[in-house]
Amino acid sequence: MLKFSGIANPYALGKYGVEQNARVLQRYRFLHEGLLKAAAGQLPGREDWDLRVAMCRHMYEDAEIANQWRERIPELRTSSAVLSKEPDPVLSLLMDELVHAGSDLEWASAVYEVVKPALLAAYREHMAATQQIVDQPTIRVLRGAILDLEAQLEWGEAFLAELRASAAAQDATADATAEAAAAQDAPPFADAIAAFLAAAGGVAGELSRPTDLPRRGRSRTTYAVPGRSVRDPRKMGETTWARTSVANPPDDPAGRELLMKMRVRQEEMTACDLVAAVLYGQKNMPWAFYRDLARHIWDEARHAMFGQAALEADGHEWMSRPQYTSDYDINADKIPAVQYAWLSIGIEEGAMISLGKKKEYEWCRDEAKHPLMAQFQDYDWADEIVHANLGRKWTPDLMGEELPFVREAAQKELRHFFAEVDKANKAFARGEASKA
Ligand SMILES: [Fe+2]
Ligand SMILES: [Fe+2]
Repeated sequence: MLKFSGIANPYALGKYGVEQNARVLQRYRFLHEGLLKAAAGQLPGREDWDLRVAMCRHMYEDAEIANQWRERIPELRTSSAVLSKEPDPVLSLLMDELVHAGSDLEWASAVYEVVKPALLAAYREHMAATQQIVDQPTIRVLRGAILDLEAQLEWGEAFLAELRASAAAQDATADATAEAAAAQDAPPFADAIAAFLAAAGGVAGELSRPTDLPRRGRSRTTYAVPGRSVRDPRKMGETTWARTSVANPPDDPAGRELLMKMRVRQEEMTACDLVAAVLYGQKNMPWAFYRDLARHIWDEARHAMFGQAALEADGHEWMSRPQYTSDYDINADKIPAVQYAWLSIGIEEGAMISLGKKKEYEWCRDEAKHPLMAQFQDYDWADEIVHANLGRKWTPDLMGEELPFVREAAQKELRHFFAEVDKANKAFARGEASKA
């Protein structure tokens, strides 16, 4: 294919004129942003570790795809003012309902068996049906989005198969709980989400839609993020506000310190929960804020995986240990501006000022001489510089004050936070329950 730069089927008339194309892309954009925000609202209450990590990755990918639609839509003789509008009240209702998923199964089934498969099908259809020369910039975005969605759905399918198998196994051995029984069939929640999507005329809005518009279900009540974050009670240790390392730490101080560092990285999942609460809770910020926070969440999930990978590579069991949830829990009642200032200015900018991240890297490289952990810390340091910059970029806007005010407020929140953690650590050392 030398002609047309390799573009196939160049003579065919395409399905979309400019205006119609922009209208459909606007729906795609809205769906990815809705999925991002609903996932952020869901994260603190989700149980399964692997699901949590995948949700963080998929939030980041949804944000990046949405961002590409935000760049493409105004190229189609469309005012960028539409980017802050909701294209379809039924799609808005779908997202209002989606954030009310009540279990890992409900969330995963609705997202990976209903909404994302429909998106993938729409993208494949769009890519084939649009005029291949005129719409090549759209096709390029679709191709990347399809790769992400295919990988997400492959993951979702495997996750749901395991979730249903373990529910069925529980069902067979123990007394059948209602939850395990419900897991056998497609849960009504995913069916309800599918019905909302159908009532919206599908992803692209091209199917005939009934004039009797759907009503609210669970979204009659406003969704509130949980007051305490959740970890899988079947697979993981209890949540705690203390640092608990591994079960049998070695006697030598450097070995103990190294394992503690691995656990502290692994427990950064609690930072994901906190940033997710900020992303969900803070309304009406510029799009760049939500995109930055989606990346922030994924970075903290990668840091948690740094710890997980280092611990597992060295043969240390971590999942049954108590799981530190302080970043979220202790800050749960604070407003998003304070939550984000506590993390990005108090903790993350603070770690730059104290050279804490640089020292962690050098210690793992030179004292512990642990190449994998040193590499993790090298990148952890790089990421945290980005996060401190995000803090300086957004917290003045969030708080309506200049940085000196934000820094002073963050210091007060740090004192409150570490007083609580200190109490929990002392209780843990005395062998008492480590959560307030
Ligand atoms: Fe981190
Ligand atoms: Fe960070």
